[in-house]
Amino acid sequence: PSLKDVFADDFLLGSALLVNEIQDSNGPDAQLLQKHFNSLTAGNELKWDATEPQEGQFDFTRADKIVDFASANGMASRGHTLIWHSQTPNWVFYDAEGKLASKELLFARMKKHIDTVVGRYKGKIYAWDVVNEVLEPGDKQPGGLRNSLWYQIAGEEFIEKAFLYAHEADPNAKLFINDYNTNMPEKRQNLYDLIKRLKAKGIPVDGVGHQTHIGIEYPTVQEIDDQFQAFRDLGIEQQVTELDMSVYTNDSDAYETFPLELQLKQAKRYKEIFEVFKKHADQLTAVIFWGKDDLNTWLRTFPVTRNNWPLLFDERLQAKYAYWAIVDPS
Ligand code: XIL
Repeated sequence: PSLKDVFADDFLLGSALLVNEIQDSNGPDAQLLQKHFNSLTAGNELKWDATEPQEGQFDFTRADKIVDFASANGMASRGHTLIWHSQTPNWVFYDAEGKLASKELLFARMKKHIDTVVGRYKGKIYAWDVVNEVLEPGDKQPGGLRNSLWYQIAGEEFIEKAFLYAHEADPNAKLFINDYNTNMPEKRQNLYDLIKRLKAKGIPVDGVGHQTHIGIEYPTVQEIDDQFQAFRDLGIEQQVTELDMSVYTNDSDAYETFPLELQLKQAKRYKEIFEVFKKHADQLTAVIFWGKDDLNTWLRTFPVTRNNWPLLFDERLQAKYAYWAIVDPS
């Protein structure tokens, strides 16, 4: 069965990919994407370092391939990401003298970037992660905001401007604030409060994106339920934007092969988590995996290089127990 059909009444079912996976648009990787998913996210190709590596020099060749592949196959495209502290070229934050850019210069660059990128895909990309990972309670800034260069130069206003510019560039795109560990109480509260402040100022925030990079043990299923429950009264959309399940709990663990016991445990956990997703389907509009198969996963190099099996299809694109647990949960 096709995943997207199984969940057709609930939410979009998506995958991230890198452009090399669709080099051959009729190859096995492309076919797997076509069969199972109705929303695609470029894994790296829409990030600032890919689209505008030098000031004013835009390159959309790789992003275009992904967006064109999606539309040729009747799939939606999700945009990831406009403003982030990572995978952003250094020139963005410095002036001609090499000093930290002024707020005015930073906002001018931000506007140009967002206008150009969002404008190019107007009507083609249905939702944007406007800002990504702007919270880091450990940085001890007011509101739990991450002490990034964006924040150091412009304070919280950089978030407001990003949403305003994105909305101007495509008034119909759904605009998301995206983050990880949204199950953790302090960060979750920071995120909730931030969205409230933005909404009170009339900033067009349409949704909250939960990355949902989880482990085999934590967070608990209840904590994942709470991660959606906590935002319900904001009345905005929610999406699971980067789902994967590492088979480890510690950075120091590493397996040669995937133990059967863990294969079954992963399947059970995926099943339970999808029950939670379905429960919130009135607000949860998309569930997107951060990759389709265990070969094409960032978790084989992050946080360390090791084998990992976080997704629904194995290295040979065969369906895993986790896949069957989701499509046939009986
Ligand atoms: C990851 C990509 O998958 C990797 O290829 C890249 O080297 C680093 O970024 N949270 C995010 C994503 O928002 O953009 C990250 O993607 C994974 C964590």
